[in-house]
Amino acid sequence: MNAIFAKRSVAVAGGPVLGIETSCDETGVAVYDTARGLLAHTLYSQIRMHAEYGGVVPELASRDHVRKLMPLVRETLGRAGLGVTDLAGVAYTAGPGLVGALLVGAAAARALAWALGVPAIGVHHMEGHLLAPLLEDATLAPPFVALLVSGGHSMLIEVSAIGRYRLLGDTLDDAAGEAFDKTAKLMGLPYPGGPALARLAQTGREGVFRFARPMTDRPGLDFSFSGLKTQVLLAWQASDRSEQTKADVARAFEEAIVDTLVIKCRRALAATAAATLVVAGGVGANQRLRAQLVQAGAQHGYRVAFPRLEFCTDNGAMIALAGALRLAAGQHAPAAIQVRPRWPLEELPPLHAA
Ligand code: KG4
Ligand code: ZN
Repeated sequence: MNAIFAKRSVAVAGGPVLGIETSCDETGVAVYDTARGLLAHTLYSQIRMHAEYGGVVPELASRDHVRKLMPLVRETLGRAGLGVTDLAGVAYTAGPGLVGALLVGAAAARALAWALGVPAIGVHHMEGHLLAPLLEDATLAPPFVALLVSGGHSMLIEVSAIGRYRLLGDTLDDAAGEAFDKTAKLMGLPYPGGPALARLAQTGREGVFRFARPMTDRPGLDFSFSGLKTQVLLAWQASDRSEQTKADVARAFEEAIVDTLVIKCRRALAATAAATLVVAGGVGANQRLRAQLVQAGAQHGYRVAFPRLEFCTDNGAMIALAGALRLAAGQHAPAAIQVRPRWPLEELPPLHAA
């Protein structure tokens, strides 16, 4: 059993659960009730602060979470029409993420739960992401295959039950979002590059450039995106570097990443008994990826489920949901403030014992 999870407690069956996300550069707060759904959520993004430095500065991130978290908690409770004493539990991201940033959320959540006399639960950030589609459709149930594509991860996971996760494929180097961000940076786009590059790709012309679909020419479900970045760099440096060329390169890069992800998703579904693909993480906001996965699903007979766009990237709602499910199953965290900057998803206990 993982140290973050204590022995069974009294189950929190229903009742509003506060969710707190502070693993990186977004402060997210939400209230979720397993009986009533999402009651309110708020988000503060630090992106503008970090943009000046071209990436996330961990110490600045922690300090900003300290400034923003409690005002957001008050605002979220207000929007839900609740007082703090109405809360039945508190959920917070316990990892993976930046240690200082995680500690801000964990300390605030634990203190609040202690003061209120309610249980608290440390949520795995990636479990939050992969359960986010349940915010749209609470009836969505395993088995499914999850494609988790964020700034730090590119993973295919077999979900046989909530909390039973088997890693089918992972990235050998850069994550999909990281590849978007680094490629955008080398073409001079502002941080964070992923959304900017995707916007630019919309005006790119088809077929002007073509990049490889890495590791699709051999069996297996792992990814590798760092070579693609080098291909883009060489093509960009040899080009006229006009605005149209920049858009053309962006389009070819996006097509290469999206095609690769779609091919691997199809393979993963064929390798498991699942008939549903769940897509989550920041890159899940990419419109070309969403459209192509839906098309492939229609063609090959599997269902594709996404969170709404704002819940693809980091948010408090997914943490409140994942935490509410675990609290309802009688799990909670011990009183000590513990976070795990590195935390393999497969170490999580199942939601319900088999
Ligand atoms: O899940 P997320 O918000 O944070 C992490 O846990 O990493 O994902 C952020 C990542 C960034 O790399 C960002 O560039 C990428 O998701 N991203 C996108 C898009 N929106 C966000 N990548 C491609 N197209 C998008 N529309
Ligand atoms: Zn994330």
